[in-house]
Amino acid sequence: MNFELSDLHLAVQESARTFAQKELKPGVIERDSGMIYPTEQVKRMGEQGFLGMMVSEKYGGGGMDTMSYVLAMEEMSKVDNSCSVIMSVNNSLVCWGIETFGTEAQKQKYLTKLATGEWIGAFCLSEPEAGSDATSQRTTAVDMGDHYVLNGTKNWITNGGTSKVHLVIAQTDPEKKHKGINAFIVETDWDGVEVGAKEDKLGIRSSDTHTIMYTDVKVPKENRIGEDGFGFKFAMKTLTGGRIGIAAQALGIAGGAFELSTAYAHERAAFGKPIINHQAIAFKLADMATDIEAAKMLVYRSAWLKDQNMDYTTASSMAKLYASEVAMKHTVEAVQIHGGYGFVKEYHVERLMRDAKITQIYEGTSEVQRIVISRQVAKGNLYVPTNKL
Ligand code: CAA
Repeated sequence: MNFELSDLHLAVQESARTFAQKELKPGVIERDSGMIYPTEQVKRMGEQGFLGMMVSEKYGGGGMDTMSYVLAMEEMSKVDNSCSVIMSVNNSLVCWGIETFGTEAQKQKYLTKLATGEWIGAFCLSEPEAGSDATSQRTTAVDMGDHYVLNGTKNWITNGGTSKVHLVIAQTDPEKKHKGINAFIVETDWDGVEVGAKEDKLGIRSSDTHTIMYTDVKVPKENRIGEDGFGFKFAMKTLTGGRIGIAAQALGIAGGAFELSTAYAHERAAFGKPIINHQAIAFKLADMATDIEAAKMLVYRSAWLKDQNMDYTTASSMAKLYASEVAMKHTVEAVQIHGGYGFVKEYHVERLMRDAKITQIYEGTSEVQRIVISRQVAKGNLYVPTNKL
C-alpha cells in the first residue's frame, strides 16, 4: 500500500493550485454576487487542458488518470466552485461518456472539440418530475427510421446556456421502462432546442443552470450513444464516475475552508492571544483536519479504483456522501471561526458554505448515495472491491 502521490500527481496538483489562485481567485466574489458567467476563466481552463484532462491525447485531451483529475478538481474547488462544476460536468460526464461509449465518428466530431474547451457540454438527465427517480423519464424520442424526434423538458442543467453539446437522456419505448431509454448527442443550435431562464441559486452562482426545452428536435440516428436501450445504463455508469468529481469538489470546498480558517485563526487575536491558541477554536480545526483527511482517503481511493479498472460504484457513492457532508459541516464551522467576518463576502467562507450545499444534492443526493451503498450492504457485499471491471 502506498499513500504517496507520484511526482506527476504532485505536479498536476501544484499547477492546478497556481492556476486557481492566479486565474480564478481575482473577481470570484463579484462573479458570484452578480451571477456573471466566468467566460474568460473557462477559456483559460480550456487552454491549460483542465476541461479534457482524462480524454486520450489522440482526441486532444490530456491523457491523464482520474487521480490527476481529482487533484485538479480539489484545488479549483478551494477557490471557485462555479468554475469547478463547469470543469467537472465537461470532464467526467460529457467527455468521459462520449469517449467510453461513443462511436469513433462521435469522438472525432464532438470529443475533439469538447476536450479542448472549444465547445462545452451539458448532461441532461433531470426533469421537473424525474430527479432522484431517474427512470421516470418523460422526455421522449420517437424513432422515425433515420432519425429520432425529441420532445420534452430538462431542468437543473449545468452549462445549460453556454454549451454547444447536450447529452440528452430520453424515453424511446415507454413499455420497456428503463430498458427503453436512450442517450443522444444533441447540438444546441439545432431547431427546437430552447434555453430557459438562468436559475438564481444559493451557491455556485456564476455557473449557468437552466431549464432546457426540446420541441420536435430532429436527432440523426448516428447521434444515439450505444445500442438501443442503453441510455439508462449510460446515465448511471457516467454518473458513477461523475460522483468522484463532485466528491473531489466537496473535498476542495472543505479544504479551502480549512486553509482560510487556519490562517485567520493565526491572525485574529482575542483575550490577549491568537484565537488558534484558544481550545474552542483549536478543537474545531482539529476536527476539520481529521474529517478532511478521512474524506480524502475515500475520494482518492475511489479514483484509484477507477484507474485500476476495478469496480468503483460503491466507492464513488461513499466518497461523495462523506465528502459532501464534511464540506457542509465544516464550512458552517469555518464561518463560526471567522465570527462576524465569516458572515460577509470578503472573507470567502460564506460563499464556500453556500457552495457546499449543492454537493449534497447534484449528481445524486446524499439519500441516493445511501440507496446505492445500502443495496450493496443488503446483498452482503463487503466493502473490499477487488473485482476487475
Ligand atoms: N452502473 C450500471 N448500471 C446501473 C447502475 C450503475 N451505477 N445503477 C443502476 N444500474 C442499472 C441496474 O443494474 C438496472 O439494470 P437491469 O434492469 O438491467 O438490472 C437499471 O440500471 C435500473 O437500476 P435500479 O433498479 O437500481 O433503478 P432505480 O430506479 O432503483 O434507481 C437510483 C436507482 C440509484 C436511485 C438511480 O435512479 C439514481 O442514481 N438516481 C439519481 C440520479 C442522479 O444522480 N441525477 C443527477 C442528475 S445529473 C447532474 O446533477 C449533473 C449536473 O448538471 C451537475
